[in-house]
Amino acid sequence: MSLLNILRYPDARLHKIAKPVTVFDTRLKKLIADMAETMYEAPGVGLAASQVDVHEQLMVIDTSDAGNDLRVFINPQILWASEEKQIYDEGCLSVPGVYDGVERPARVKVRALDADGNPFEVDADGLLAVCIQHEMDHLMGKVFVEYLSPLKRNRIKAKMLKEEREQKRDKQYATR
Ligand code: NI
Repeated sequence: MSLLNILRYPDARLHKIAKPVTVFDTRLKKLIADMAETMYEAPGVGLAASQVDVHEQLMVIDTSDAGNDLRVFINPQILWASEEKQIYDEGCLSVPGVYDGVERPARVKVRALDADGNPFEVDADGLLAVCIQHEMDHLMGKVFVEYLSPLKRNRIKAKMLKEEREQKRDKQYATR
């Protein structure tokens, strides 16, 4: 297994639209294992393939406290969403250090395929419901900061670009 590089907002590649997975082979299994390792190492509770520059409809999620309940969703579809909404303070591995409230349906019913291509359905609420919707947004090229006001989003963009410049500068010094 190996750790994958996570794209950082505002990288334009985060806005690519993912294509459905059609081949369930060893390459897909390796990608899932690498994505899971990358998510746990970060640490995070969810990671979409879009975030590691693979534009296929695949996401891994583990919202358990112990980090021992890995869920793999391939070609996910929302079958039903509750009218009831919840606001949750979301964060994202592509926008490190930023957390803000996003309102979404409180409960969703989702259909997806597992790593072997077998269909399954999940009724999700709480953090799992948030996470599924957040990761599905990534597959559609959407990052959670796009739900925030333009003012907040521009501030976040400026902060991310500044950090990126600082990291590049630190790297240059380190290699001298
Ligand atoms: Ni995210």
